[in-house]
Amino acid sequence: MGRGFVVVGVAVTVAVTACAVAAVVVGKRVKSRRKWRRVVGVLAEFEQGCETTVGRLKQVVDAMAVEMHAGLASEGGSKLKMLLTFVDTLPNGSEKGIYYALDLGGTNFRVLRVQLGGQRSILEPDVERQPIPQHLMTSTSEDLFDFIASSLKEFVEKEGDGSDTSLMRRRELGFTFSFPVKQTSVSTGILIKWTKGFGIEDTVGREVSECLEQAMARKGLNMRVAALVNDTVGTLALGHYHDPDTIAAVIIGTGTNACYLERTDAIIKCQGLLTTSGGMVVNMEWGNFWSSHLPRTSYDIELDADSPNPNDQGFEKMISGMYLGDIVRRVILRMSHEADIFGDALPKLSMPFILRTPLMAEMHEDDSPELTEVARILKDTLEIPDVPLKVRKLVVKVCDVVTRRAARLAAAGIVGILKKIGRDGSGGITGGRSRSDIKMKRTVVAIEGGLYTSYTMFREYLHEAMIEILGEEAAQHVILMDTEDGSGVGAALLGATHSSNRVDNVQLL
Ligand code: GLC
Repeated sequence: MGRGFVVVGVAVTVAVTACAVAAVVVGKRVKSRRKWRRVVGVLAEFEQGCETTVGRLKQVVDAMAVEMHAGLASEGGSKLKMLLTFVDTLPNGSEKGIYYALDLGGTNFRVLRVQLGGQRSILEPDVERQPIPQHLMTSTSEDLFDFIASSLKEFVEKEGDGSDTSLMRRRELGFTFSFPVKQTSVSTGILIKWTKGFGIEDTVGREVSECLEQAMARKGLNMRVAALVNDTVGTLALGHYHDPDTIAAVIIGTGTNACYLERTDAIIKCQGLLTTSGGMVVNMEWGNFWSSHLPRTSYDIELDADSPNPNDQGFEKMISGMYLGDIVRRVILRMSHEADIFGDALPKLSMPFILRTPLMAEMHEDDSPELTEVARILKDTLEIPDVPLKVRKLVVKVCDVVTRRAARLAAAGIVGILKKIGRDGSGGITGGRSRSDIKMKRTVVAIEGGLYTSYTMFREYLHEAMIEILGEEAAQHVILMDTEDGSGVGAALLGATHSSNRVDNVQLL
């Protein structure tokens, strides 16, 4: 009897324990399902906030064209600065000689020597690239320009025999300076503000070529800035050199911007000041474009607030390489707050700008079945080990949403320019002709910058959106031309075109 009681007792205990374990397991599953649902909810909300339907993109196109008009009409008329470049002649292929160029404006600084042989021939340029030391980006004007002049001097010395006479020879230089500059001539201009993480206060308001020429003189270099150009303008010059149908250039790299050829009579704000009657290249500084139609999320707002230039460069912060990685990081951080799907202590994930865009692109383009690159980057860069596959997939999806929105907005920006100059097949904003009257001209847009040239998914999304906005037929007339290193070579070409020794220039438009 007693034994029987014990047996029953044991059986009951086992059953209760089993139930308890089952309850715990089920409870855990329910909990983890809830967590997962919350995380997926974060993604869904983000995706919705980033939506770029064709309808919305068309609103962005219209807003861009309207803002371009406003910026051309009056100084401060728009967030788009629409800066005049005084470039009213572009290289025509007959330029000859050796020209130098400096290219400053992104993560790297480049020095180039370009040999022009006439008849549209550019001999393989010598290019030297080096990263800008981080401390110089926020140091003093003298430190930055001395560093540039020293690098240039070393480069020039390698060219000749290093003799005094070789260094004394006066050379013409094209200077690509990729920040907003109010030009006073093709070779001079005042820095309006810094962008892309640079912040050297004593340069703002100063004449940029003078800063460089003084530094070159300090280093004993006899050089003159023949052309001071934005990177978009250098890219346009090279594009136009290769293909005269090139009417605009776009950069999508660390920062983003565009320039295009405008009729002088459309530039109302400077009427009377302009001596040319043809056309002129306008640097839009589109990174600062803003419109209520842009799909902005809470992550964009937070990124802006934490950036060195809040309330500035809103379009750029949704599109360019300096920022995309950080938007992704912010979404992942939010997911980790909602539910600990990445583990607990994540100090790295809270560090702004730690996830750089090239790494984000690598994660996005990881096509291995186990997403091994994603796992490696999460571990090495963000110090998040052992992320399960389904979470890795989620991370890839976040990268996709961020990149797709950026590429599609860039496409809308490009179509905005085409619309402004009547090349979008719709008759333009002031056109008035019916669609059937319009015969689209072949239109080439030169593009440079790592996001476009080295990030396949970005490029594909951009192309896809161009077709969606323009329609298949009109899109066939628009050619996007990849001009690698165009901003530097183009500055050398403009240096040649505007060299003191040249007379035979071709006027635009
Ligand atoms: C930033 C600069 C602009 C430059 C662009 C691309 O937007 O303000 O001048 O063209 O980056 O480098």
